[in-house]
Amino acid sequence: MTQRSLDTRAVHAGDRTPAGTAVPSTTPIYTASSFFYESTTELEAVFAREADGDNYSRYGNPTNRALEELVADLEGGDFALATSSGMSALLVALLAALVDRPKRILAGNVLYGQTITQLMSVLGPLGVDTRFVDPCDDAEFARAMTEYQPSCVLIEPISNPLLRVAPVDHIAAACRENQATLVVDNTFATPILLRPLEVDTHLVVHSATKFLAGHGDVLGGVLVGHQEHEPTISALGRTIGPNLGPFEAYLTMRGIKTLPLRMEKHCRNALEIAQALVEHPLVDKVHYPGLPDHPHRPSIERLLPTGLAGGIVSFTIKGATKESVFSFIDHLELIVPGTTLGDVHSLLLYPAMASHRDLSPKHRQRLGITDDLVRLSVGIESADDILQDLDSALDVAVRGTVG
Ligand SMILES: Cc1ncc(COP(=O)(O)O)c(C=O)c1O
Repeated sequence: MTQRSLDTRAVHAGDRTPAGTAVPSTTPIYTASSFFYESTTELEAVFAREADGDNYSRYGNPTNRALEELVADLEGGDFALATSSGMSALLVALLAALVDRPKRILAGNVLYGQTITQLMSVLGPLGVDTRFVDPCDDAEFARAMTEYQPSCVLIEPISNPLLRVAPVDHIAAACRENQATLVVDNTFATPILLRPLEVDTHLVVHSATKFLAGHGDVLGGVLVGHQEHEPTISALGRTIGPNLGPFEAYLTMRGIKTLPLRMEKHCRNALEIAQALVEHPLVDKVHYPGLPDHPHRPSIERLLPTGLAGGIVSFTIKGATKESVFSFIDHLELIVPGTTLGDVHSLLLYPAMASHRDLSPKHRQRLGITDDLVRLSVGIESADDILQDLDSALDVAVRGTVG
């Protein structure tokens, strides 16, 4: 069968599973926690996993399955598990990677703050050792692989909040060579920009809360992989119970139907805004993978589609202190100062206060997450309106302090 384009698959994949003799044109929300059949023999076959079907929603739910089919299709995976949050998808992925293996994780050194906390404060006390490495430094990464021999490698290909772009393809090859399971958090890129499984990654996780759902009304996650990990992840899912609620699954599916369109607009707006911020007198440093002087241009050109470099722009404000950043945020009128990203509306976050709050100031400083850094999730509004809002809030809040 011909492989249809991502635009088409985002709209169709996962939908139209017959319900009796009727075929719903979009997937309904199945809120039932349990299912039964005309004959108990049939139910027994479902329990024994000898027949397809549902018996209990922790083991599988038709709405969640539709979303799982959709995301597996877009990411090029064999299966997916829809979870209650990005963090729970990540935890299941890391546990799956460590089953029957030495408990050693090699992680990218700039990750979402709670991911670092999960590694250090949840998995650490359970005996999992984590070391951090710069995944964008080929030599340092190769040395760490050889010396440390991790069972699992974890990276964010477009990192939060500094938007460093890791050579996922090279890292995946090194992982295959060293029998390490590569887990990629693809939240920032989405399958529209990058499909890590296609470059030989083992497991992909998403915070579906972000671009996938895209409308600020879902907390969810998805984990995608190849058949080799399906039995382990299915067993973890069945026993841990990290399931997404069916209403959230429905909303996420609905969001994904417009993901290709939204990502294009997010990326176009983000580029325009990053270019304007580079010229802004009150802005110091702009981090955006679409800018020509981004330090990881070779990876960007190899891995990301031309002109689509993501919807997040981070920047430092000249001479800003915590107080002036707060004042800047308080003066925004259009951009929502919310603790998330990837929504249709623009959002601004102060990493030192929110996403990376749990790291010590020294740790943040070392990672480049300074007190003058803000992260903008560029929405699909008019780029001119977003820029105008940034400009006037910067002007009122910061101009006075930097003279
Ligand atoms: C890159 C990344 N991964 C994972 C998460 C966690 O996702 P959730 O909040 O859905 O648990 C976040 C949340 O901000 C994130 O930015």
